Amino acid sequence: MRISDLREINKFIVFFLIAALSVVNQLFVLPAEAEQEIFTVYYPPDKIVMEFDILGISLGVPEGSVDLIRVNVNNKEVANINPDQEYECLSVPLETGINTIEFIAMKGDRVVDCVIREVFRRSDLISKYMDAPPDFKKDYFHMEEHLQCTKCHALKPGVYDKKPIGPAAFSAETFDSQTVIAAGSTCYSCHNKIASYPYVHDPAFVWSCLSCHDPQTEPKYSVKKPAAEICFNCHIEQKKDWSAKKFIHGPVNTGKCAICHSPHASDNPFNLFKPTWDLCVSCHFEKGNGRHVLGESFSTEGHPTRGRQDPIKIGKELTCVGCHNPHASNSPHLWALNVQSFLELCKKCHYDK
Ligand code: HEC
Ligand code: HEC
Ligand code: HEC
Ligand code: HEC
Ligand code: HEC
Ligand code: HEC
Ligand code: HEC
Ligand code: HEC
Repeated sequence: MRISDLREINKFIVFFLIAALSVVNQLFVLPAEAEQEIFTVYYPPDKIVMEFDILGISLGVPEGSVDLIRVNVNNKEVANINPDQEYECLSVPLETGINTIEFIAMKGDRVVDCVIREVFRRSDLISKYMDAPPDFKKDYFHMEEHLQCTKCHALKPGVYDKKPIGPAAFSAETFDSQTVIAAGSTCYSCHNKIASYPYVHDPAFVWSCLSCHDPQTEPKYSVKKPAAEICFNCHIEQKKDWSAKKFIHGPVNTGKCAICHSPHASDNPFNLFKPTWDLCVSCHFEKGNGRHVLGESFSTEGHPTRGRQDPIKIGKELTCVGCHNPHASNSPHLWALNVQSFLELCKKCHYDK
């Protein structure tokens, strides 16, 4: 048999299979009712990487098509919306690692559409979440023209978004109400949740977003890593003070200010990503074992590192920074309180001993 004959036979088989399949299809496939496509998810795309714990979302929903939209993140309901316009915008909280976001459209008690997006939240403080899985990519929202959004939102930055950072920008009266301050911000309408934490970094508090995010950079608004250069633009005194010290803490020396501090806002004093003790122990995990200082060479219990009053910082809890400076020091163990020797350190708090 020649090759061309084989091809003919193959063609015939394929033709026959297709014909047979289409008959089967007509017999068994139900009308595609349950799986209509109602949503358009304008943002986010699937499998993107985020650095922070808030994600802005924008959905398109044709009017009258849906009674209720349920939004679940990792099976927890985070929003429940009665759509009344063609666009629904919201923000959702993210956990570290992979987040599964479900958008469920209900008509009566029937699910009429369901769209799923996966978003990876990276973290430098947890080694298993430092790198995104290979199929997840960083996405830059502001690199594209989003004409759909400009119907309702301004996207072009204005003068208000870069306030001069001098004492005037932070004068007492501007702090009266954050809503009043934010009213002039272009960024506020979409990023309003970024500052809604108990502790807000001052330039973020006054919505001077462009004091760190330059629209001329590529990708747009990106911040050079590590962040120290940007931080030291304003924190000039700290720069002078720390660089004059003999020993600089590892992550500070490599410029990674934003590994410990949120540049925007957080649940903790000094905009730290975690309470101080937890922050230190996320890298120095062996110091969380309760045997630090006193218990390491003797088999006694260690020195308390939390849960007690700090005798020097009155009204505050004793933590790692009671004895260590988180940035720099003239002692190799980064002792705080300007001491040079072990005994000198102890005496700062135990002077009667
Ligand atoms: C039809 C008008 C309209 C369009 C178009 C629109 N938005 Fe919105 N968006 C709004 C309104 C109104 C709010 C304020 C929502 C509120 O406070 O309830 C908002 C708020 C937001 C928020 C903040 C949500 C929150 O948690 O408060 C984000 C993020 C957002 N929009 C993103 C987008 C993006 C991205 C697009 C384009 C893909 C877009 N929007 C298009 C009207 C629109
Ligand atoms: C139309 C809504 C909208 C407005 C207005 C807006 N952003 Fe965004 N921006 C987004 C969304 C959506 C994302 C991606 C998801 C997220 O970060 O929540 C984003 C992401 C970013 C990022 C991360 C990098 C990137 O491109 O994804 C930066 C930085 C940023 N915005 C800064 C700003 C600044 C500064 C302003 C004001 C000058 C601003 N944005 C105004 C919607 C908006
Ligand atoms: C003090 C400097 C500073 C200010 C002020 C600031 N940012 Fe940022 N922002 C940063 C840095 C640094 C990063 C990158 C953090 C990282 O990845 O290490 C960042 C990242 C972001 C991201 C990306 C989040 C992600 O998940 O990838 C968004 C969105 C953003 N900023 C929005 C804003 C908005 C809106 C404002 C105004 C309220 C603002 N920023 C003010 C320094 C700043
Ligand atoms: C545009 C100027 C500006 C930039 C850039 C800037 N800061 Fe600040 N920061 C301030 C001002 C103003 C204050 C409040 C006054 C003060 O404490 O110096 C402040 C306060 C702080 C505080 C103390 C908060 C408190 O509760 O006492 C920390 C921590 C901080 N900044 C960290 C950073 C880090 C980390 C960066 C870089 C990601 C950075 N800053 C970049 C202006 C800036
Ligand atoms: C290892 C974590 C860590 C890193 C990295 C770090 N900080 Fe801090 N920072 C802290 C802690 C913890 C405090 C609070 C100290 C306290 O409670 O007394 C603090 C306090 C501050 C303060 C307010 C008190 C002060 O000393 O003025 C500023 C400003 C500040 N940091 C800026 C920075 C800048 C800028 C960088 C990068 C060059 C940086 N930090 C890097 C942990 C860190
Ligand atoms: C992001 C990881 C990270 C965090 C968070 C961190 N450290 Fe460190 N720390 C390092 C690295 C890296 C070094 C330098 C390597 C070394 O000497 O172990 C270091 C060194 C030190 C040293 C000096 C060790 C020596 O050689 O004597 C002390 C003390 C210290 N850290 C205390 C702290 C305290 C207190 C905190 C919390 C405010 C903290 N660290 C948070 C990474 C971290
Ligand atoms: C009561 C004071 C005190 C407290 C609180 C304290 N340390 Fe220390 N730390 C010391 C002293 C003293 C040393 C010198 C090492 C030694 O001789 O035990 C040291 C050494 C270190 C070192 C470097 C040497 C080594 O053993 O690896 C690191 C890292 C460190 N401490 C981290 C921490 C962390 C993280 C915390 C909070 C969980 C903390 N320290 C709380 C006093 C303290
Ligand atoms: C920043 C303050 C501070 C420094 C520095 C400090 N301690 Fe303490 N120490 C405390 C506090 C607070 C307690 C808990 C006291 C209590 O609960 O009544 C404590 C408890 C102790 C205890 C347990 C006995 C007791 O009184 O409960 C010993 C022993 C001790 N410290 C030894 C040391 C030694 C040795 C050093 C020097 C390496 C040192 N401390 C440095 C604050 C400090």
